[in-house]
Formats: sequence, C-alpha cells, structure tokens
Amino acid sequence: MNTLFAICATYEVDDGTAQGFVLQRRDADGSAKPWPILVTRKGNNFYGFENACPHQGARLDKRPGEFMDEEGNFLVCSQHGAQFDLDTGQCFIGPCQGKALEPIHLVIDDGDVCLSGIDLDEEDGLDIDDPEDDVPEVQITSD
Ligand code: FES
Repeated sequence: MNTLFAICATYEVDDGTAQGFVLQRRDADGSAKPWPILVTRKGNNFYGFENACPHQGARLDKRPGEFMDEEGNFLVCSQHGAQFDLDTGQCFIGPCQGKALEPIHLVIDDGDVCLSGIDLDEEDGLDIDDPEDDVPEVQITSD
C-alpha cells in the first residue's frame, strides 16, 4: 500500500483556482531537490501538475500563487503566456500548444488532497527556501 502525503485540505483550493506548493523530492541519485507543484480544482475534482511549463520548463507563476489568466478561467505561464486547462493541463494556446503539464496523481483522503506513490525526501518540503517566497507551506503527514 502506498503512503499518502497530505498536501492541503480540500477547502484550501477554491473551485476554479490553483494553489502552488513546493515539496522536496528525492532524485535518482538520492539527493533532495525542491519540487514545485500545483493543485487545481474544478467542482469537486482536484488535479495535480508539476509546476513546470512544457515550453521551456519555467514555473508558471512568476509571483507565487499567480497562476490564472486575467479572467480567472485558465492557468497561464508568466514567461510567454501559454494557457492551460485546469483539469487536463493541456496547453491550448501559446508556444507549447498541444503539449501538457506533467500530471501528478492525487488522492482525496478524509478531506485532504494527498500525493500517493511519490518518493519525497525525509525532510519533506517544510523548510525549503522559495526565492519568491510566500508559497503556502505544506504539512506532510503519513497515514
Ligand atoms: S516557458 Fe511557459 S510559455 Fe514559455
């Protein structure tokens, strides 16, 4: 059975929005590395993606937490304006049109949005310095 890691409570992600988190993941060589992700919500469905644009790999948010276009309908990359669907992560306009954000499998468990089957570092992501700061901290617990 895979261990679940609680990222946040479901009520912390409003319908039609995205929240960013920086976790700490173990590389193949065993070293820990910051891992920016985002969680989106459409109705009662939650979706996880790596926070890395398929165009040039940049984080979508230049300023932490600013993921949405001006109308608040789609994810937008702050670098060159690619727009992505909240639920599929598919880019439908922009320089990486036809590509998609890398999906992360999420599990909803007892009101929490959780990761499953990901090799996070023992030190989780609580103390990572985000150069742009103000990204919500993550409480990682295991069941
Ligand atoms: S890096 Fe995202 S659109 Fe270019």
